[in-house]
Amino acid sequence: MSVEQGPASSRGAVGGVVNKSGERVRQMFGEISARYDLMNHVLSGGTDYYWRWRTIREAPPRGKAPVLDVCTGTGDLALAYARACGPEGAVIGADFTPQMLVIANRKGQRQQAGGQHGSLVFVEADTQALPFPEGSFQIVSVAFGLRNVADTRAGLREMLRVCEPGGRVVVLEFSLPGNRLLRGLYQWYFRNILPRLGQFFARNNQGAYNYLPDSVGQFPHGAELAAIIRECGASEVRYLPLTFGVATLYIATKPGQRPS
Ligand SMILES: C[S@@+](CC[C@H](N)C(=O)[O-])C[C@H]1O[C@@H](n2cnc3c(N)ncnc32)[C@H](O)[C@@H]1O
Repeated sequence: MSVEQGPASSRGAVGGVVNKSGERVRQMFGEISARYDLMNHVLSGGTDYYWRWRTIREAPPRGKAPVLDVCTGTGDLALAYARACGPEGAVIGADFTPQMLVIANRKGQRQQAGGQHGSLVFVEADTQALPFPEGSFQIVSVAFGLRNVADTRAGLREMLRVCEPGGRVVVLEFSLPGNRLLRGLYQWYFRNILPRLGQFFARNNQGAYNYLPDSVGQFPHGAELAAIIRECGASEVRYLPLTFGVATLYIATKPGQRPS
């Protein structure tokens, strides 16, 4: 699970629409960076580990071209891809919140000291304007980040641009369970339990935990998000609901032949 919250002062829904301006999102993640991992694992009951494992299993690296993980945050998916790539691999994690990258770097150095993989670097970059040439990566992934990008389509187009022909764009994102009863329970948990747990662990202001349910509720999922990914230039998109549809994994292919 990916958990975000921010002080009430920065929570702003603009005219009922979640405010995702870069400045606001960067400030929010900067403020919670130190507690992000703990909150993630606790509030998801550890399901986030399974979701990342499943992502790598469904979209494993093939060959030696590098992998890019955007909106990498504290770097967990980039670290998982680095382990999957092995000692010959190269992985870049990119995010626009420097405080999240400090933690990602620390974790990367620890993992690299354990000799578990090849090159892993973290860079500060906006997903809507990635500083990489076209066709550079075999996989461009994003976990629980696309929903936070101010312009979803601009983010997806950039991800597809830097992906090599025949390569894959992988999106792991929250969704709402298809079953009405489960969806009701999930939304109740999001609105009533998660904010209290969040307050307890992060000692934050009351009412500071609305961004997550608001942003999930307003973000497209399933067939709708798959259609948007296709519209942005993917040739083929398959999607896989995980854990009763609480999260969905989308695997898209960029048109063309992979370079040999
Ligand atoms: C919910 S966290 C997800 C982090 C990580 N991928 C995970 O699975 O735990 C979302 C991250 O997206 C980043 N982010 C949001 N919009 C971004 C943008 N336009 N460019 C780069 N990073 C962005 C935030 O800084 C934050 O670290």
